[in-house]
Amino acid sequence: MTKTPVHQHPHFRPYIHYTPAANWMNDPNGLVYFAGRYHLYYQYNPHAVRHQHMNWGQAISTDLVHWQEQTVALEHQKHEVFSGSAVVDWHNTSGFGAGKQPPLVACYTGHTADNQAQFLAYSLDEGASWDHHSGPVLDLGKRDFRDPKVFWHADSSCWVMVVAHPVEHQVEFFRSPDLQEWTTLSMFGPSGATGGIWEVPELFSLQDDAGQQHWVLKVDLFPGGPYVGSGVQYWLGDFDGTTFTPRTPARWVDHGQDFYAALTWSDLPERRVWMAWMSNWQYAHDSPTEKEGWRGAMTLPRELRVCVDRDGPALAQRPVRELQALRQAHLPLPVNGAAALHPGQAHELLLSWPPATDFRVRLAFTSGAGVEASVEVTPDELSVHRPANEMTSDLGGYPGTHRAKLPSAPGRHDLHVFLDACSLEVFACGGRAVITDLLFPSQPISQLQVDVLGLEPGSVTADLWPLTASTGPRR
Ligand code: FRU
Repeated sequence: MTKTPVHQHPHFRPYIHYTPAANWMNDPNGLVYFAGRYHLYYQYNPHAVRHQHMNWGQAISTDLVHWQEQTVALEHQKHEVFSGSAVVDWHNTSGFGAGKQPPLVACYTGHTADNQAQFLAYSLDEGASWDHHSGPVLDLGKRDFRDPKVFWHADSSCWVMVVAHPVEHQVEFFRSPDLQEWTTLSMFGPSGATGGIWEVPELFSLQDDAGQQHWVLKVDLFPGGPYVGSGVQYWLGDFDGTTFTPRTPARWVDHGQDFYAALTWSDLPERRVWMAWMSNWQYAHDSPTEKEGWRGAMTLPRELRVCVDRDGPALAQRPVRELQALRQAHLPLPVNGAAALHPGQAHELLLSWPPATDFRVRLAFTSGAGVEASVEVTPDELSVHRPANEMTSDLGGYPGTHRAKLPSAPGRHDLHVFLDACSLEVFACGGRAVITDLLFPSQPISQLQVDVLGLEPGSVTADLWPLTASTGPRR
């Protein structure tokens, strides 16, 4: 009698990525750093694994890596609480403050079937509880007008808000002295990719290594991304307090299929860090995590830089350094060989090699059922392939190969990979090329094979670490 093989059913709850304990989550909202704590609010339905009755859920961290879920922060009342941002109002320009502590002020879209307008809420206890300010502060009487991102513009000493006109493929800039009275500044768009509605815009500045300032405008869209469904585009340019002038063509931020609605932390000194929803509106409602009672995970937090190389200035992303604290003892990883992965843990892989004119570096992630995903680097290109399987038969557009062009002539190649229970995040050439993909293997991934062609194996350095589970929602 033949024995039926035991099918090991994988579970998909991430170890090192944020997911709420139960139900539906999408965009990060109101990311703000205050008094040593990172606040992560997010689009949340506390009642079901579907996008409905949206609220702002909340989690708090002191290191961007270990998150503690809190009770819902902004509840659905007369309208749904759609995406938005939060700031520390250091000088109490809003007048919401009382006493010594500055208020945290959130600006979000109140959504009803026929109107979207921008509303405020404020917290006087470090984000633990919120009061809604009565009435909208910006209402153009439109059905689609959403996702306000607010920041303090020091040069003109005022608040600036950028909001999406999704259907027109435009974003509009507004200014205010007090977060309450807003006047229009300018419009940007249509420009770049316009194959879908525009959502979740953000404008911020970054200095490159030579100290030159660049303004980054990023806009998400659905559909019309680089493959199926959603994507995020950006321009580098100038902002004079009124108008954004692009200096580069539009480019994709991430060349995978599951990076959306990215938002940076407000009021974080010295560095610019963002996080995105690790999904795609194309199939977000069909992901196979429903059986586990949750749906929606965030990407890892990433620090942003502008790199200037032969190809001109471009955005680069690196996983934040705090993640290094999760590393456990090295696992042996032979180049041109295989390593056994630890069951029940996430893994981090770091490979590096000198430039060569012709090479191929290939990673294969395998389970008892075969290759579940593969990553390839050649001198010109990074690619990730995720094959179809029975877990993802309902996810239209899931199988495929996602490709990112590499910068010409890097000093050295590096490949930085994070594998978690349902995701793969791949950073190449110092984060100049990034691919983020959900990955629903048919069985738990248990082995990593690394093959190099056209390189001296001894010239490749390889580090592999299992990562400790965070004190997150996995319980
Ligand atoms: C982006 C988005 C936003 C909106 C929110 C609703 O994913 O569609 O435009 O505010 O999600 O949950």
